[in-house]
Amino acid sequence: MGGVPITLLFADGVSRRIEAQLGESVVSAAENAGLTLLTDCSNGQCGTCAASLVAGSLELGNYDKAVLPDSDRLNGAVLTCISRVTGPCVVEFPYDSSEALTEEAPPIDGCIATLEQVAAETMLLEIDVSDPVDFEPGQYVRLQPPGAEEWRSYSMASCSNARRLAFYVRLVDGGRFSTWLKESAQVGDGLEITEPHGSFFLRREPRPRLFIAGGTGLAPFLSMLESIAGDPELGQIPTTLLVGVRTGRHLFALQQLESLRQRIPSLTVQYAAEQDPVDNCHSGYATELITSMEVPGDTRVYLCGPPAMVEAGRTAAEAAGLPRRDMLCERFN
Ligand SMILES: Cc1cc2nc3c(=O)[nH]c(=O)nc-3n(C[C@H](O)[C@H](O)[C@H](O)COP(=O)(O)OP(=O)(O)OC[C@H]3O[C@@H](n4cnc5c(N)ncnc54)[C@H](O)[C@@H]3O)c2cc1C
Ligand code: FES
Repeated sequence: MGGVPITLLFADGVSRRIEAQLGESVVSAAENAGLTLLTDCSNGQCGTCAASLVAGSLELGNYDKAVLPDSDRLNGAVLTCISRVTGPCVVEFPYDSSEALTEEAPPIDGCIATLEQVAAETMLLEIDVSDPVDFEPGQYVRLQPPGAEEWRSYSMASCSNARRLAFYVRLVDGGRFSTWLKESAQVGDGLEITEPHGSFFLRREPRPRLFIAGGTGLAPFLSMLESIAGDPELGQIPTTLLVGVRTGRHLFALQQLESLRQRIPSLTVQYAAEQDPVDNCHSGYATELITSMEVPGDTRVYLCGPPAMVEAGRTAAEAAGLPRRDMLCERFN
């Protein structure tokens, strides 16, 4: 079968025209052309590879509708890992070309410094590295335990440019990384770490922010808030954080959040638990809190957590008058 041209547009205005074989995925066509597009699950379950089809058509394989709702698909959103090329097309990515055009740097070595269960199903994992890692607050790295073949993505919960990286990991039943972390990992063990990735990071802009976190989806917001706390200009902008968890026992990083609240005068934090809420905690979903809030029309919304929570948050924020184009999402279970 012959090749067809596809054009990849990036957020920094850079475009690349590549040749694709009919029937291959956009991600693999890009890979054959020497580009590494952002992916994670590679089978339509996480949304990391989301992009917009600007012209032409693509045939989508199986995917999780919570990750790509029909309304988004109708507006041109595609998951490039499961989108097969059917003819010439133009695809726009929400991140800069530097994410895709450079070769991935070799992984660096890290060493586990802290391993502590901090809430129900939630581990704090801190990893020391020999040179400080620079990243945008909100980004993630991939981690690989010794001897493992798979990599797993985790968002930094700590500040950029430090020699210790903090992560909050939900212990998923039967999950490989989760089982290793719970049953085998020890302080002092080595781990490999990729360079930071992702377009879900704090934007420096003078507009209110609404952060909505589900479970360990709080991790990237902790990194963003630490960065805001260290920058008086960023700290003046009104910021609301809604934290949603399954039960009150799943709440974590409460002391850190209280310290952040004291250091960031413009920060408001509200909690919600679906079951067994603790004091001052809404009983139900965090996204329900949006309906009772005053949300300025120029608010930038950031959502991170399980796909269903992200979708509920987007719908509630839209009902509050905010356009979907002003919402940034990171989905993981
Ligand atoms: C950009 C990004 C950032 C992320 N950041 C975070 C974060 O900060 N914190 C966090 O907690 N998570 C985060 N995640 C999710 C994380 O990457 C992992 O997906 C998660 O920790 C599960 O990994 P695991 O290896 O434990 O589970 P996996 O082994 O991937 O298993 C996941 C599920 O599949 C099931 N399963 C596995 N193997 C089989 C099988 N053979 N048959 C049937 N079922 C099976 C498991 O039981 C489990 O329910 C992020 C994901 C992305 C994409
Ligand atoms: S990488 Fe495409 S949906 Fe996960």
